[in-house]
Amino acid sequence: MFSFAPTPGQSSADLYADLVESARALTTGESDSVANMANVAALLWQFLPDLNWAGFYRVVGDGLVLGPFIGKPACIRIAMGQGVCGTAAASGETQLVPDVHAFPGHIACDALSRSELVVPVVRDGRVIAVIDLDSPTPARFTHDDTRGVEALAAALVNSI
Ligand code: SME
Repeated sequence: MFSFAPTPGQSSADLYADLVESARALTTGESDSVANMANVAALLWQFLPDLNWAGFYRVVGDGLVLGPFIGKPACIRIAMGQGVCGTAAASGETQLVPDVHAFPGHIACDALSRSELVVPVVRDGRVIAVIDLDSPTPARFTHDDTRGVEALAAALVNSI
């Protein structure tokens, strides 16, 4: 049985398994992509400690447009290939950035952000959105986070 909350002390693998299961439970049978992204942003915020921003940018036309998120107000439009999000969207590859100040072209929406993880959501070989996580702690994200958020992205392909 899933719960929409992390269990204290659980392993990273178990935490992400619960997060993905919760996301599936919340989005299955719901066709509204905004509602689904909003609930998944809330889940990310609830399950993952030490974040200052969690949410989505969607591919619209030839760029990215801000989607549902939790955190401070953020840049609305990002050009493909620009910043961490635009790089993830243009390459189709996850960007794990331990130090945002060392990432060429990083877009500082929240001056508190020190590390970032951006995972593309790919449907039929096309990037349709990215999941963006920011932390005020340097090197907050690990390969466990990469694997976990990639599993989440795969689970959302048909619901956002
Ligand atoms: N830092 C991102 C921009 C989005 S905010 O972090 C919410 C980037 O460089 O693409």
